[in-house]
Amino acid sequence: MTTQIKRFFDDYSRHFRMNGGSIKSIKYGVSLKRNIRNDRKGDHVSEFDKICEVQSDKASVEITSRYTGIVKELFYKIGDMAKVGSKIVDIETENINETIDSTVGNVSDGKLYMLAAPAVRRIVREHNIDIKSIKGTGKDGRVTKEDVLNHVADLKIADIQKPYVSQYPVEDKIVPLTNIQKSMFKIMTKSLQIPHFGYSDEYSFDNVISFRDMIGQSNNQFSIKKISYMPILIKSFSVALQQFPILNASIIEKENDDGDSNVIKIRYRSAHNVGIAMDTPGGLLVPNIKNVQTKSIFEISEDLQRLQEAGKKNLISPTDLKDGTITLSNIGIIGGIFLSPVVVCSELCIAAIGKIQRLPRFEIIKDKITGEIKEQVVAKNIVPISFSADHRVIDGVTIAKFSQRWKNLLENPALLSAELR
Ligand code: COA
Repeated sequence: MTTQIKRFFDDYSRHFRMNGGSIKSIKYGVSLKRNIRNDRKGDHVSEFDKICEVQSDKASVEITSRYTGIVKELFYKIGDMAKVGSKIVDIETENINETIDSTVGNVSDGKLYMLAAPAVRRIVREHNIDIKSIKGTGKDGRVTKEDVLNHVADLKIADIQKPYVSQYPVEDKIVPLTNIQKSMFKIMTKSLQIPHFGYSDEYSFDNVISFRDMIGQSNNQFSIKKISYMPILIKSFSVALQQFPILNASIIEKENDDGDSNVIKIRYRSAHNVGIAMDTPGGLLVPNIKNVQTKSIFEISEDLQRLQEAGKKNLISPTDLKDGTITLSNIGIIGGIFLSPVVVCSELCIAAIGKIQRLPRFEIIKDKITGEIKEQVVAKNIVPISFSADHRVIDGVTIAKFSQRWKNLLENPALLSAELR
């Protein structure tokens, strides 16, 4: 399993290891800071510095350093393919006495080594400030908790007093694409060679809302903060897919075959690795939840929560970004009704969820006394759903039938429960 790197890559979280020493310790598997050139051994990196950009076939993610220390060894060059799990850099760190309640700036060999006790580091981190900008008033110039809080208060005052500066650019400027934009550019250009078939419908969401409230209140053994609609949408999507495996398939085509349909094959994939379009501080990413077909709604919820937390810190791993088989995009959180989503080029189908709205709809009722069948207008929670599919191998009827099946499961959660294994 390999991942292409733009700069340096390591799945460091799985490879942290410490060499105990009396003064120094070496921690392995932390990837390199972006601005450290390949020949710059001996450079200093600080904890939470953005140190590398991981480029997978779908997107790129920035990773930050867990440690403050000195680069001792580099194992890859920019642009190399790094095997997932292999180490790319050794960072030598100062031995930190975790019990001290302060932060100290220590100058040695003309370089600044920042030490931080957990309590002070946490406050500095929460306020997203550079510790080097704080003047320490403690013993030997130590930065105390009070120094940090005073600094934060000063920053707030300075911010209020700052004159208003418009964000609108005063002159044209030309900038290169960010890594996520480069990835989007590459994938979407390829995706738009696919003839898309679009289909939209609206589903009643009332029963999903009650279902979510019910399971959200249940005691479960999972570490879930709250259940959102997404895990229910993802699970029901996977249950519906079981009858429509073509939607989860991919096309195998060789380069330079000029679209010769005699050599093209379809791979029916057993795993439902459902990609979730995710809005992260770095931009759009599509990590996927693996093997949804074997997971409960609670397990999916746990996976989604992990991905969302990693996304907020730009720490989604390449493994999470790889091997998606179909995609769901819930843009309705932000707004919008119907969409024209673009199929990811390694997949055949994508579904987009629009904004849930309370709308008037006709309902057929039977009068309890007379038995007469009548129509009445009622308020319903309606969710618009839009599909796009690769029209070279998927026809409109298949999408329409799949949509009917998914709709039926969502509008009747009891049916969904009955179908779960
Ligand atoms: N319409 C209206 N509200 C919605 C909604 C929808 N379609 N889907 C979810 N919500 C609500 C939820 O109910 C929740 O509110 P509540 O807690 O008061 O009930 C709130 O929005 C936020 O939900 P949250 O728990 O943060 O997220 P989620 O699990 O529903 O969705 C993601 C997770 C990752 C899909 C979402 O955070 C995200 O990034 N969406 C953007 C997708 C995107 O960028 N698509 C574009 C691709 S080009």
